[in-house]
Amino acid sequence: MRITFFQDQKALDQLGSSIIIEELRENPQLKLCAATGSSPIGIYGELTRSAKTEPQLYSKLQVIKLDEWVGLNEKDPNSCEEYLQEHLIIPLGVTNNRFLSFNPCTENPEEECSLIRSKLDEIAPIDLCVLGLGKNGHLGFNEPGRFEPHSHVRELEGVSKAHQMIESSTSKPTHGMTLGIDDILSSKKIIMVVSGSGKEKAKEDLLSGVVFPGCPASILWEHPDVTCLVLNG
Ligand code: GLP
Repeated sequence: MRITFFQDQKALDQLGSSIIIEELRENPQLKLCAATGSSPIGIYGELTRSAKTEPQLYSKLQVIKLDEWVGLNEKDPNSCEEYLQEHLIIPLGVTNNRFLSFNPCTENPEEECSLIRSKLDEIAPIDLCVLGLGKNGHLGFNEPGRFEPHSHVRELEGVSKAHQMIESSTSKPTHGMTLGIDDILSSKKIIMVVSGSGKEKAKEDLLSGVVFPGCPASILWEHPDVTCLVLNG
């Protein structure tokens, strides 16, 4: 894992986005797995800026949603779906056939996870995964406790249920759907963003280099190509 520390959010976002853009130049059909939340939002902002001057760079990009809340109402503005539509899919002009996504309104989340698993099998491997660190060390909705290999439904810990994304939602999700640890590790390259308050313990656990299920993100030490971007403060 290559770890870079930043004092400045903008510098982190620029480095993160430049890695994605470089990969896209080499492989225009890049399969990008994207987290939601506050950590990668500036990186997506930089991509949006670049798409304004060079939209053709994104014309074959494929996006895979990392995770989603279970049981949100249709068009709930707090879903990972709406987030990705706003910050990546619409600004980069990604068409529906280039977006693989858990349905937040599914009535059968287990079935939805099986569907995503089989669709992911068809298009695998993921080329690049952009991840954020959860306050409890989670990756996507891979909550602490065990490493689950493939897409699955996971009961959320209190800290995840209190995530700012769904603070204003009328639905109060208790579960999430997420790609699994092997799905994430199968990505050729990974960018891990560590930023935001209340993550001191998770950050310490991750950066200690010890792999353990209490900090799911620590599994990234087993991947050969992880760039970890850490915002100090
Ligand atoms: C949420 C999201 C994840 C995200 C993580 C960290 O649960 N579903 O995709 O990576 O939590 O969020 P944040 O970056 O807002 O701290």
